[in-house]
Amino acid sequence: MIPTFILIVDDDKMTRQTLSLALEDQYQTVTAKDGKTALEVLKSQEIDLVLSDLFMPGMNGIELLEHINLLPEKPPVIFITGQGSVETAVQAMKNGAYDYVTKPINIDRLTLLIEKTLENKRLKEENILLKKKIEETYPDLSMIGNSPAMQKIKDLATQVAATTATVLIEGESGTGKELVTNIIHYNSPVAHGPFIKVNCSAFAEGVLESELFGHEKGAFTGAVAAKKGRFELADNGTLFLDEVGEMPPSIQVKLLRFLQEQTFERVGGTKTQKVTVRIISATNRNLTDMIKEGTFREDLYYRLRVVKIEMPSLRERKEDIPELVASFLKKFADRHGKQISRVTDEVMELIMQYNWPGNIRELMNCIESSVVMARGDMINIDCIPEYLTFSGGDSSMNGKEGLLQEMERQTITDVLDKTGGDKVKAAKILGIGLRTLYRKIEQWGL
Ligand SMILES: Nc1ncnc2c1ncn2[C@@H]1O[C@H](COP(=O)(O)OP(=O)(O)OP(=O)(O)O)[C@@H](O)[C@H]1O
Ligand SMILES: [Mg+2]
Repeated sequence: MIPTFILIVDDDKMTRQTLSLALEDQYQTVTAKDGKTALEVLKSQEIDLVLSDLFMPGMNGIELLEHINLLPEKPPVIFITGQGSVETAVQAMKNGAYDYVTKPINIDRLTLLIEKTLENKRLKEENILLKKKIEETYPDLSMIGNSPAMQKIKDLATQVAATTATVLIEGESGTGKELVTNIIHYNSPVAHGPFIKVNCSAFAEGVLESELFGHEKGAFTGAVAAKKGRFELADNGTLFLDEVGEMPPSIQVKLLRFLQEQTFERVGGTKTQKVTVRIISATNRNLTDMIKEGTFREDLYYRLRVVKIEMPSLRERKEDIPELVASFLKKFADRHGKQISRVTDEVMELIMQYNWPGNIRELMNCIESSVVMARGDMINIDCIPEYLTFSGGDSSMNGKEGLLQEMERQTITDVLDKTGGDKVKAAKILGIGLRTLYRKIEQWGL
C-alpha cells in the first residue's frame, strides 16, 4: 500500500510531537514549526493532508491556506483550533479548509475526520479519472465557433451526414478534419456500423496495402494466416483515410477501382471481395498541386471529392477564438481539478495576435498547458507558453511567415533531439505524418 503523508503544522513543539506520535501508526507524518516551513515541505514532497494550527506567529493558518490554494496539487487542510476561536475556523472553511477540530484533541475523532477527508479526496480524483475515460471513449462531437466560415462547415457536415456520399476534407493540420469526420459518421445512416480509421502516412507501402485490403495466407513472408483488411472490417460502415495524399501510386490505383466498382482482392488473393463502405478521406496537402507534380492521380481525386469540405485555418476566423478559449478553459480546468474562470485581457490579446500555425490543436494544447501551469484562478502572462509572447514586432506578412517557419523548424529540431533522431517517435509527438516529417527535414536540411 502507498503510505499516506500527513503534514502537521504547529508552533508548539509538544503538540507536534503528540500528534505525530498518535498518528504515526497509521500514517507517515512530517512536521513543520511554522507556515513558511510548511510551504517548503509542500513544494518538495507529496503531502496527502495538512493538519495545521490556526494561530501561529508569522504566517497564520488562514494565510497558509491561501498559499496552499495556489499550489498545483493542493492537499486538503484540517485546522486545529482552541475552544474560543471556532468562528475563525468556520471562516477558514469558507476559504476552502476541509474541516476543523477543537482542542483538546480527541485522537479517535481526529482519525475519523482524517479518513473522511482522504476518502473525499480519493473520490474527487477518481471522478477526474472517470471523466477523462469517458472523454476518451466517447468522441466529443461538438464543434465550437459561430463564424460564417464555421457555420458553413457545420451546415455542410450535417447535410452530407444524411447521405453516404464520398467526402474529401482538406485543411491545414489541426483544423478539425478528424472531428468533422466523426460528426459525419455518427450522424450518418451507418452510425451504428463500424467506423475504421487508417492513417496512410503511418505505414510503409507494402504494409499499407495489406492493412487496407487484407492478405491471404502465404501472400508474403510472414503472412502465416489470412487477414481481413480495413475495407472488409468497415463493411456497412465508414472508412476514414487520413493523410490520403501520402498514399503511394500503386495503392491509389486499387482505391480508385474500389470507388468505381466497390470491389478489390486481398494481397496474394484471387477471389474478388465486395463490400459497402462509405469513404471519407482527409489531407493537409494540396492535392491539386500533387496532381500537377504527377504524384496524385487526377481521376482518383475526382472520385474522392464528390463532396469537398475545406476547413478554414484559425487565422481566417479569429472571431471564434474567445469562444474556443472559454470552452477549452472549462474542459481542462475540469480535467485537472482546478478553478480557473478566465484569461486576463493581456493574454487574450496575445492569443488574438498569434498566427496559430497548428490551428485548433495548438490552441487547445496551449490552453491545457496554461491551465496546468496556472497558480491562481486566472490565466495570466506568467503561465502561458513563451512562444505566444514572441509575436508582434514585424507585422509584415513575410516577417510573420518567416517567424512561423523558424518556430516550426525549431520545434521539429527540438523534438528530434529529444527522441535521439527517432523519426517515428518524433512524428508521433508532433502529431504529423512520418512523410510530412521527412519532407520538412529535407526542406530545411536538418
Ligand atoms: N471547431 C472545433 N471546436 C472544438 N474543438 C475542435 C474544433 N476543431 C478541432 N477541434 C479539436 O482540435 C483537435 C484537432 O482536430 P483534428 O484532429 O480534427 O484536426 P485535423 O485537421 O485532423 O489535424 P491533422 O491534420 O493534424 O490530423 C481535436 O482535439 C479536435 O477535437
Ligand atoms: Mg487528423
